[in-house]
Amino acid sequence: MKLFLDTGNVREIEALAALGIIDGVTTNPSLMAKEGGDPVAILKRICDIVKGPVSGEVVATDVEGMVREGRDIAAIDEHMVIKVPFTKAGVQACKVLAHEGHKVNVTLVFSATQALLAAKVGATFVSPFVGRLDDIATDGMRLIEEIVDIYQNYEFGTEVLVASVRHPIHIVQAARMGADVCTCPAPVIEAMFRHPLTDLGLERFLKDWEKAQASRA
Ligand code: E4P
Repeated sequence: MKLFLDTGNVREIEALAALGIIDGVTTNPSLMAKEGGDPVAILKRICDIVKGPVSGEVVATDVEGMVREGRDIAAIDEHMVIKVPFTKAGVQACKVLAHEGHKVNVTLVFSATQALLAAKVGATFVSPFVGRLDDIATDGMRLIEEIVDIYQNYEFGTEVLVASVRHPIHIVQAARMGADVCTCPAPVIEAMFRHPLTDLGLERFLKDWEKAQASRA
């Protein structure tokens, strides 16, 4: 399963990409707004760092505007993926952009029927938001199970990109279900590394080694 970072923060991306575990990045208008600066320059810099799929989202809400903004986003770098919201206009824009050979990520997906429609119009990625479903007492991961099943039944090429990930259990469940990608905020990736028994074990190994060295001296 691929791991994407869900952030527009270049420093976070540099730090985690250096570990060799980051396959791509997703951004959205809220994340980019938090960073300030020139969004085009930031997205270009992110592409240079990760050299993998980087989603940049359109803010237009009509088909023509989405297609125009989508083409501009694609022109930033060969790694750019055009993110469009799941609306009727977004679905139409996805079809046009995918037909032109662009990679499209259909976002704000909250149901299996929406995911089915996104696949039908040639989305490269579909982004179901699991955390926001959990927030309203609906099982977000159940949606991932449904989408993975449906895509397998019809051999759709669209990749299931689990979004709105809040904790490492979401990642474990997504991997067990066969989702293609999880996009996670940096703290969730950091949490994947931590285990108290690893720290304790290493401390003990090093102490024992030092003791043995001292007794030989
Ligand atoms: C996906 O691409 C979105 O950027 C993201 O996962 C949104 O998650 P949130 O619910 O944490 O805002």
